[in-house]
Amino acid sequence: MLDMLVSGGTIVSPRGRVRADLGVKNGRVVSVGEDLGEAREHVDAAGLHVLPGLIDVHVHFRDPGMTAKEDFGSGSTAAAVGGVTTVFDMPNTDPPVSTAERWRAKYEVVAPKARVDFGLYGVVTQDNGAELTAMADEGAMGFKLFMGQTTGDNPCPDDGVIFAAFRTAATLGLTIGAHAENNAVLQLLKRELRAAGRTDPRAHLESRPAFIEAEAVSRAATLAAAAGNHLHIHHLSTREGLQRVVQARALGTRISCEALIGHLLLDDAAYESQGNLVQLNPPIRPAEHVQALWEGIAARTIDCIATDHAPHTGEEQACTDVWSAVGGFIGVETLLPLLLTQVAAGRLELEQLVQLTSAGPAAIYGASPQKGSLDLGADADFVLVDTQRTAVISGQQLHSAHPVTPYEGWQATGMPVATYLRGQCVARDGVPVGDPRGRLVKPRRVHRATA
Ligand code: DOR
Ligand code: ZN
Repeated sequence: MLDMLVSGGTIVSPRGRVRADLGVKNGRVVSVGEDLGEAREHVDAAGLHVLPGLIDVHVHFRDPGMTAKEDFGSGSTAAAVGGVTTVFDMPNTDPPVSTAERWRAKYEVVAPKARVDFGLYGVVTQDNGAELTAMADEGAMGFKLFMGQTTGDNPCPDDGVIFAAFRTAATLGLTIGAHAENNAVLQLLKRELRAAGRTDPRAHLESRPAFIEAEAVSRAATLAAAAGNHLHIHHLSTREGLQRVVQARALGTRISCEALIGHLLLDDAAYESQGNLVQLNPPIRPAEHVQALWEGIAARTIDCIATDHAPHTGEEQACTDVWSAVGGFIGVETLLPLLLTQVAAGRLELEQLVQLTSAGPAAIYGASPQKGSLDLGADADFVLVDTQRTAVISGQQLHSAHPVTPYEGWQATGMPVATYLRGQCVARDGVPVGDPRGRLVKPRRVHRATA
């Protein structure tokens, strides 16, 4: 007897869509097709699409140490309601996750609050080379490398340390995810703009021009090619950066890249309309870069879409001086409605959406085959979607601690109706369901011989 039968829906995978029922037992997908037999629980998905739960490889739930901005409870509730069943959380918490002991301590704090499954990254610092293996042994999802300054002000490691970390990651079979910006150049430009008396929101964009991303992508890709690790470029934001990824891939480098929903939907006009609320590292860019990212999605040179869900307090976000303002804004709860709206507008296929937000992210960090698909044996993480349902995005209805969104008032076409984690409902119609029951996801390590 099945635990759950999801019937009458259209199941979507990167390969296509099929009208079929889904059988769940012990939290996993055990059958797909017709006449799957008896089940203890019946979910009627008639008229709905059944998507694998989304995986957001880039969230900052701020726990521990920055919980005035968000904590794992509020962040993961927002994820569940938004159809995101797995998040990978960034290590620029307080303290930063730079040792196995800190990784373990963070796990202990966040696990009881998690409404969705989660992976936890460690951070690469100038002097924690010896801790990377120990963090991997604890279960780290991979390692974040800050090549450019951002929230938390984690110092950027030098190139020797970066190369050594890449070699370690290759041996461990884990992915390194880079924030690719040239720190020395951005600091120089910042000083110059400041000295020139600039305080307006757009000065942030000018302090982080496209070439500093392109340079960091090339440098990281060159080192990764030699070390043999998988390099993932987080929040790729420029035409030039994407060109460098494509070139590196053509040379055989194990490289993937991510676009943020914010970089896909906002352009530099937002500095005038929304001010420092849209400050982001790397910055929101002129339309030509937005266009290049959409071309990358169409050409399948971009491997995943993430949110960089980066909450701050209302007070911090109200800051009017560009140099004291905080970078980043929330997004995990609005990701799916905004992408479904792009599907409704004909800019994206549903199959592509699943590739970019489930299958792709799982493959990049080694979470497949457990996560990222509804194939037999996978965790029964899925979201029921009504592609016709419309809504107006409103911060008031979001579950983050400080629900200020740059998408306030935007029309969405396509909404998550209910979210299931390992066969249990965790959210329905915009409301969380049940107690937190999220679990740690550990990566499947992919070892490759190094040069
Ligand atoms: O704008 C950003 N905010 N970019 C990052 O890389 C980090 C993030 C944060 O943690 O606030
Ligand atoms: Zn981030």
